[in-house]
Amino acid sequence: MQDTLTLEQQIDLQITSSGPMSVATYMGICLTHPTKGYYKGADPLGARGDFVTAPEISQMFGELIGFWLVNLWQQMSEPKAFTLVELGPGRGTLMADILRVACRAPGFRDALKLRLFETNPALMAEQNARLEAYEPKWLQDFENFDDGPVLIVANEFFDALPIRQFVRKEDGWHERQIGLVDGKRAFGLSPTPIPTSAMPDAVADAPTDSMLEVAFAGAEVMTRLAKIVARQGGSILAIDYGYGSTQTGDTLQGVRRHTFANVLEAPGETDLSAHVDFGALANVARAGGLAVQPLATQGEFLKRLGIAERAAALSGANPGSAEDIRIAHDRLVGQDQMGTLFKVFCAHSPGLMPPGFVS
Ligand SMILES: C[S@@+](CC[C@H](N)C(=O)[O-])C[C@H]1O[C@@H](n2cnc3c(N)ncnc32)[C@H](O)[C@@H]1O
Repeated sequence: MQDTLTLEQQIDLQITSSGPMSVATYMGICLTHPTKGYYKGADPLGARGDFVTAPEISQMFGELIGFWLVNLWQQMSEPKAFTLVELGPGRGTLMADILRVACRAPGFRDALKLRLFETNPALMAEQNARLEAYEPKWLQDFENFDDGPVLIVANEFFDALPIRQFVRKEDGWHERQIGLVDGKRAFGLSPTPIPTSAMPDAVADAPTDSMLEVAFAGAEVMTRLAKIVARQGGSILAIDYGYGSTQTGDTLQGVRRHTFANVLEAPGETDLSAHVDFGALANVARAGGLAVQPLATQGEFLKRLGIAERAAALSGANPGSAEDIRIAHDRLVGQDQMGTLFKVFCAHSPGLMPPGFVS
């Protein structure tokens, strides 16, 4: 396709020539088109970008996850070689905070192999600038891991993967598609129904017009990672907004410059994401041989790991920043802020007991 065309023109041309596209195809093009995708352009994170993530709010977030990782490494008898993977590392802030703390544990730094999975060249450069001292390598796929246990961390990664949407009608479920009406992009439904029996049991009784989201791309990633962790030992920690068991509802959202935006407008300039179905990810991880902790809210998880104590220690050391630290603490754990909306998922080798969860 001509790269001189804008992303809008490319999408509209594809619809004109091939017919309406699925939400997943649209999301995939908008987010990761090789030259014009949202995640291929300038750094979208931080105060001047479209959204602010937990590690960008406070170092406490990454530091506590650093302690958490050391705990698991110790539970595994401090292996002399292990791989630490971050999926979608953003600016490298989370990993820098993790490693500043974790590498204080004797032996952790020498045992560490750092691997990052990232699609955005601008962010890769930032990750390299922050993490160069730890000699990171970027994964192209989820094959060829070094021997030894694998600890995986992902903050706000799974919500950025494409989802499919289906709407219940009298004759079954119809896939939601994006077509052109009077030259403008609009949602519609595939005419071909999918039988109810082909959909998850959890939505068998869903009323007409219910919407089901299926995160096939996230499930694919989890399947591959679970296989590696089941074989080599370790864990997968994923933090995101989402829900604990498959349910109906439209969670696809667009955000541009800190404001909700129409998902069909400004493709490539609007962040598109969807809430994560952690119940579906848990099923995939269990099928791959892993144990799964009961989902925790971000607030509960961080409190159990000691965020109040960490905030007090930081404030004691920097009295001039105490108010900022209090505000950051409240943003991370507050029920009306990120504390309840964001959930913490952990799948791991049977036998490990990851802290921060209530089994
Ligand atoms: C919402 S940002 C979160 C960044 C970081 N984890 C944080 O919390 O600040 C999503 C991250 O995932 C990356 N990403 C999105 N889609 C991806 C994909 N398909 N493959 C690899 N990385 C992807 C983005 O470039 C970005 O680094």
